[in-house]
Amino acid sequence: MAQAIEVSDLDIYYGDFLAVQGVSMAIRPRSVTAFIGPSGCGKSTFLRTLNRMHEVIPGAKVRGTVTIGGQDIYASAVDPVAVRRKIGMVFQRPNPFPTMSIYDNVLAGARLNSRRLSRSEADTIVERSLSGANLWNEVKDRLGKPGMGLSGGQQQRLCIARAIAVSPEVLLMDEPCSALDPISTSAIEDLIHELKKDYTIVIVTHNMQQAARVSDETGFFNLKAAGEPGHLVEFDATEQMFTKPSLPETEAYISGRFG
Ligand SMILES: Nc1ncnc2c1ncn2[C@@H]1O[C@H](COP(=O)(O)OP(=O)(O)OP(=O)(O)O)[C@@H](O)[C@H]1O
Ligand SMILES: [Mg+2]
Repeated sequence: MAQAIEVSDLDIYYGDFLAVQGVSMAIRPRSVTAFIGPSGCGKSTFLRTLNRMHEVIPGAKVRGTVTIGGQDIYASAVDPVAVRRKIGMVFQRPNPFPTMSIYDNVLAGARLNSRRLSRSEADTIVERSLSGANLWNEVKDRLGKPGMGLSGGQQQRLCIARAIAVSPEVLLMDEPCSALDPISTSAIEDLIHELKKDYTIVIVTHNMQQAARVSDETGFFNLKAAGEPGHLVEFDATEQMFTKPSLPETEAYISGRFG
């Protein structure tokens, strides 16, 4: 189920603006990869190219290749909608569907993907996904209540449940804890640790301790100057990156001597 990701010489544009240049990296299956770097260096932009969400913006395009499980996701025969269904995404702000119950929120993606689910199939997916997101015990007695009635941390775990309900091959997370308190953050970090047994996880975070705690590999993105494209400076095992990075530029950022 979990797949490897290979990115080769990827350039990412918004219209004529080259936002990110020349990214190559290999992401292992069943691992957590963190992206760090200053605001505007293209972490979110790059993350969105991994499930073809980038192209949703008019004029946005990429050059280079991204393969997931050996398949070029930008090949002309590939349907971007199918890619987005296989590669789940969790955003900075929890975004449950406001009019839906907890139960229906979990099933929202799964219902798009498959033929009609029977009640018992649906029940099974809901319990499995909410348990996987470590939320089941908190909500099992109020599944029919609105998803918006949960706390922020619970809503974020609901969004993770919704993402894993479709059994994705990869889970992308863009600053999933930045709107959460330390306890909810810790719950999500524990969850990420659990989920990596089954999924390939890529997470963007501004929290270096978080990157150090949750990830196996870390990629540091930076900008040469304002208006220049972002690029991947260094990519290595997290422990190496945070103790003995190869480049002074990485060392400066990690130790807070940046900008
Ligand atoms: N929809 C868009 N249209 C045009 N340019 C964009 C768009 N989204 C982002 N950009 C530009 O692309 C560059 C990278 O932005 P991106 O949001 O990927 O950075 P980031 O590293 O995620 O920053 P942050 O840490 O603040 O979230 C920036 O110059 C930004 O202004
Ligand atoms: Mg961002």
